[in-house]
This record gives sequence, structure tokens and C-alpha cells, in this order.
Amino acid sequence: MSEVVVVGSANVDHRLVVADFPAPGQTVKAVEFDTGPGGKGANQAVAAARAGAKTQMIASIGADLAGQSLRQVLSQAGVDITKVQVSPGVPTGAAYVMVNGAGENSIIVAAGANGDLSAADLATLSPGDYVLLQLEIPLELVEEAIFKAHSRQAKVVVNVSPVDDRTRPFLGLIDVLLVNELELGQVAELIGLSAAEADVAVTARAVAKKLGNTVACTLGAKGALLVTGDELLAVDAPRVTAVDTTGAGDTFAGYLVAGLAAGDPIPDVLARAVAAGAIAVTKPGAINAVPLAAEVDRMLAKG
Ligand code: RIB
Repeated sequence: MSEVVVVGSANVDHRLVVADFPAPGQTVKAVEFDTGPGGKGANQAVAAARAGAKTQMIASIGADLAGQSLRQVLSQAGVDITKVQVSPGVPTGAAYVMVNGAGENSIIVAAGANGDLSAADLATLSPGDYVLLQLEIPLELVEEAIFKAHSRQAKVVVNVSPVDDRTRPFLGLIDVLLVNELELGQVAELIGLSAAEADVAVTARAVAKKLGNTVACTLGAKGALLVTGDELLAVDAPRVTAVDTTGAGDTFAGYLVAGLAAGDPIPDVLARAVAAGAIAVTKPGAINAVPLAAEVDRMLAKG
């Protein structure tokens, strides 16, 4: 089975649950506050491992309690952490996650040690392996990892989040571009398409055509779609009650890439990733909300 290597961020998430997001200048009281493991890279690595993929993570954490705890969480989830580096004198990355009454989130990330990740050792990649990246680490490293992965005939999946103008030159080198609806519009604008008047399927088709890659777009409670060439596959999400959408896209990403790496049929891969993301929104937190494969099986069996 092909391996999944996640090159990305690991954060401690400070979660503040509020009735409504504060307006600029407004102070609101949190109804709940906690901290937990997160970071788009770590969330996706745990999801890929829980989905059954042989998963390795390349990341940078601080020499602090948050970093130690992240290593433990990743390792317990079955992620190979031998290439998780410790950056002395820099705190582990942190995210400040506001969650409102509808389970929606608003996130600010502080890179911390993620900004120190300066090398991605991808020498052990084999043809057919998958490299999964996001944009919470230095962009030069993302670009370098894409070239290294291709030189070893591995596939590259990039969750273009948070969207950054400087990614434009290498968007066409990505095999599978992973975005949510908002990010899809941002990418469309970045590559000179007018996203504003088109619906999401039209935009996804246009982006996939212009970049010559596969586009996977999560649609929240509406599921997800995947466009390759002229083919568009859409999967509805199971109905669930959302308590916290944080990390649901990452859960989708990890399950999607694990399914691709296993060579499973694409409709099954997409359905499984959507179901996993749907379960994640029913639980608070990021990594703590990533479902085990058995939970996803049960959700799919319910139909
Ligand atoms: O995608 C959710 C993640 O974004 C959170 O876990 C937070 O750490 C930020 O990276």
C-alpha cells in the first residue's frame, strides 16, 4: 500500500465557544473554553492514519508542553513522528479558534515553530506515494516538497489553506487541489477567473481546466465535489447536527488521501471522506473530533 506523508503544521488550539462572533470593537463572553491538539497538518495526518493509511508527518514543534503533547497524540494515532523536529526557543504553533452557536468557526493562527520548518526529507518516497501539504508552513518549503515529490513520482495533494497569492506559480504543479468553497473562489480569482458570477461546480470545473489538475471542494453540510477533466462527482453529506466544524475539512482531506493511496474506487473514496468530515462536525475540537474508521463505516452503513 502506498504511504501518505503529511508535511505541515501542528498547533495547540485554544477554542472559544461564543453565541455569536464579536464585531470589531465588541467584547463578548465565551460560553466554553478549552485547549486541544490541532493544526491543519496534524489534523490531516491523524485523519489519514485513522483511515488506515501508513502515515508519516514532517513538522516542527516547540520544546514545550504543547509540542510534547502533540507528539504523543500523533504517535498514539499511529502517525510516524520520526521526522517531527523540535525547534528550541520557539513556541509550538498556536491557533485561536472561535466557534459560534451554529458550529461555524473563525481562526487566527500564529505560526510559532511551524515557521521554522525548513527542510522536508522526502528521500524515502516511492512512486505512487502521496504527499499532503497545507499552507501553514513556509511556502518555499511547500514548493520544494512539490518538486521533490514529483521527482520521486509521488502524487501531490495540497490543501490551499490559508490561500496565499504567492502560491500562484506552483498551483499548476499540484495533482489534487483541496479547497472549501471560500478558498475555491479565492483560487479562481488568483488565477484570473471571475468566480463571482459562477456557481461552485462551474468554478471548480474552470479551475481544474485552467490548472490541469483535480479539484476537490468541500461544501460543508452539502457534501463535496471532485472534478477531474470533464468528470464531476458530487456526494451529499449525511445529515448531522453540527457543534464544531473545526478540522472537518482536514478530516475530509486525510480520509480522501488515505483512500487515494489505497487505490480505492474514487466514488467510494469521496463518500468516505464526506462521511468522516460529517462525523467530525458533531464533536468539539480538531484532532479530538477525527473519527475512527469504524465510526465512518457505521455512518456509511446507515446510508
Ligand atoms: O483546519 C483547522 C485547523 O486550522 C485548526 O486545528 C487550527 O490549528 C488551524 O490550523
